[in-house]
Amino acid sequence: MSKIDVNNVYAEYEDKNGKFLALKNISFSVGEGEFVSIIGSSGCGKSTLLSILQGINFPSAGSVTIDGNIITGPSTNRGVVLQHYSLFPWMTARTNIAFGLKQVNRKTPRTERYKTADVFLRKVGLSNFGHKNPYQLSGGMRQRVAIARALAMNTDILLMDEPFGAIDAKNRANMQELLLSLWEGDGRSAKKTVVFVTHDIDEAIFLSDRIIMLTNSPGQVAKEFAVTFGRPRVHATLRETNAYVHLRNMLMALFYDENNGPSANEDFII
Ligand SMILES: Nc1ncnc2c1ncn2[C@@H]1O[C@H](COP(=O)(O)OP(=O)(O)O)[C@@H](O)[C@H]1O
Ligand SMILES: [Mg+2]
Repeated sequence: MSKIDVNNVYAEYEDKNGKFLALKNISFSVGEGEFVSIIGSSGCGKSTLLSILQGINFPSAGSVTIDGNIITGPSTNRGVVLQHYSLFPWMTARTNIAFGLKQVNRKTPRTERYKTADVFLRKVGLSNFGHKNPYQLSGGMRQRVAIARALAMNTDILLMDEPFGAIDAKNRANMQELLLSLWEGDGRSAKKTVVFVTHDIDEAIFLSDRIIMLTNSPGQVAKEFAVTFGRPRVHATLRETNAYVHLRNMLMALFYDENNGPSANEDFII
């Protein structure tokens, strides 16, 4: 059984101008411990899809199940990292992480929560910044705290919506490598199941086991791509390989299709 099953999902928004279809007949599965990216251009419905996986938005038709159970609302068993606004501005970095841990288990003693917070601050290279508030940190540092918080919560599933979208290219590459190294861990504990939303093709290839490309609005599944490169992955070496260039070209051609982007389930010939 898959960890996540998205079955014929439609999502509709309604305003004074009537109904607007954001997602159309989306189906895919994510296996346990798999890293899957959802890629598509701005406005194609990626965040809508992620909010449905979060349980804060619901399909107008179709269903999403986790471990076979239909999502009925948000759960502390799904860690979330968004592009903006995910840290509480009035709390220090350390308290933000400890607070996340409290949401998962209120019985954990305070000292233990702060101890875990320190472990994860160290993992993301911010041991000396735990006492700072988010506004005292750079964008990249803030996202490292958000990732530390999500990972410290030790959920089965991690949902990420363009978490590195506001970070410059060099820091972004470092963040991607950091995320993968934390996700891969020491090999002793099971990997988390990740759904990662991005509009960046290189980012999707670098991180993922599989990429699901959506069409322009309304978002439909255009095509799935398996990414079989070995791990651990390092930017400097991976980007040089012929296999990488080949896959990237294929994704680019579909993404920037002359007819305004990919169409649904097309047979793409290279
Ligand atoms: N709360 C909302 N009410 C009405 N329309 C919305 C709402 N949220 C998103 N939309 C519309 O749905 C479409 C998909 O949005 P979104 O899921 O944010 O796309 P993406 O994350 O891929 O950029 C867009 O056209 C957007 O304007
Ligand atoms: Mg979005």
